[in-house]
Amino acid sequence: MNTLDVLLGLQWGDEGKGKIVDVLTPKYNVIARFQGGPNAGHSLEFNNIKHVLHTIPSGIFHPDKINIIGNGVVIDPVIFKKEIEELGTYGVNFSNLLISKKAHLILPTHRLLDKAFEISKGDSKIGSTLKGIGPTYSDKVGRNGLRVGDIFTPDFRERYDTLVSRHREIFEMFHFQEDFSEMEKAWFESVELLKTFKIINSEYEINRYLSGNNSILAEGAQGTLLDIDFGSYPFVTSSSTICAGACTGLGVAPSRIGKVFGIVKAYCTRVGSGPFPTELNDATGELLRKTGAEFGATTGRPRRCGWLDLPALKFSIMINGVSSMIMTKPDVLSVFDEIKVCVAYKVDGEETGEIPYNVKAQIEPVYKTFKGWKQDIGKIRNFEDLPDELKTYIAFIEKETGVSFGIISVGPDRSETIVRI
Ligand code: GDP
Ligand code: IMO
Ligand code: MG
Repeated sequence: MNTLDVLLGLQWGDEGKGKIVDVLTPKYNVIARFQGGPNAGHSLEFNNIKHVLHTIPSGIFHPDKINIIGNGVVIDPVIFKKEIEELGTYGVNFSNLLISKKAHLILPTHRLLDKAFEISKGDSKIGSTLKGIGPTYSDKVGRNGLRVGDIFTPDFRERYDTLVSRHREIFEMFHFQEDFSEMEKAWFESVELLKTFKIINSEYEINRYLSGNNSILAEGAQGTLLDIDFGSYPFVTSSSTICAGACTGLGVAPSRIGKVFGIVKAYCTRVGSGPFPTELNDATGELLRKTGAEFGATTGRPRRCGWLDLPALKFSIMINGVSSMIMTKPDVLSVFDEIKVCVAYKVDGEETGEIPYNVKAQIEPVYKTFKGWKQDIGKIRNFEDLPDELKTYIAFIEKETGVSFGIISVGPDRSETIVRI
């Protein structure tokens, strides 16, 4: 029996999961998304073309690999159709794409509910991508949702109408009015396309693959600090972004989990609201955003930028049981004379290594400063050839966390990767 390796983000998302999954795919037989939905934007680059995936696993460009959208994912048929059409123009083959019957469907009204809820929150809004994620997971947990397997049932339209009528009642409560007849038309058209895909009981299929000695990589979306339980609630997404989410989101027993790869950007970014202790609202932050092209792959919003946060990283490693880390974007730090790392927080004058419960707590980061390497590292392919200053930075993080980096990514392209494992 083989194991399932999990790859996930250890920060607030956008750590470079898409690129790394694409790089690791040749080592696996199956790639599976286990949670989240089209709030995700996973970029990968090769042959000078950048692709952004939202629902489809990042192994899709390897035609001989199986890609599975697991039960823990929420699917918007309209976004799925757009993705399929776009990938089709690059000749991508979908015969190995499998979709769980148990994945929940994002309805047009889920997207509008997201909007209505955000408007009602005013200044305390979450900063949602407005893809309908929260309302869809709410209906799942509330036992009202529609699942992909339902699209084949004769009373599908009736069940859709029942759910929409519940949503209409909520719109009335929020005095929210928007005509969604066009959205609905596009949605039902997209459902027809969805029907042509291989829709299966993916938990059986995945366990069959494992019994058959195949290797599986589970691809996380978002990041640990956006997890519904362990993120900075309520400024989180609505799914289990952590390693345990791979078990529930794919139907795999905890004992089957093998390696846990945690991706860490060499600094931090966050899109949307919520605490960000090391955020830099100054020229340094601006330079990070500009150099790192830190604009959302899904919404185009500028990402908030700041230095690496070790207490948060240690927390994420603890929650996920990370066995190996992967660093992305150290090349972006090449512009700086000095690089800082937050090693502790000061909360109410007290130094601590723990993330406070209160999301409104005033956190003052305690920094350690490192000398920058001030050189282009994009062409380096051997770890030994990296500048000493970067090796010192990496070694410090490894020592503090007790986990080593197996991969260092030095650019967005597939080829710009240093593999140590
Ligand atoms: P994901 O959501 O975790 O897949 O990450 P995103 O795709 O949203 O954001 C990561 C961004 O950084 C994308 O634009 C990637 O092309 C880019 N990227 C990934 N790794 C590297 C790297 O090592 N260096 C640089 N400069 N860019 C990278
Ligand atoms: P990937 O997979 C970064 C953030 C949103 C918002 C919060 C809730 O590309 O790393 P939601 O749409 O889920 O209601 O938004 O979570 N968020 C992400 N931030 N990367 C993502 O995905 C994200 N998906 C959601 O900005 O703060
Ligand atoms: Mg992203």
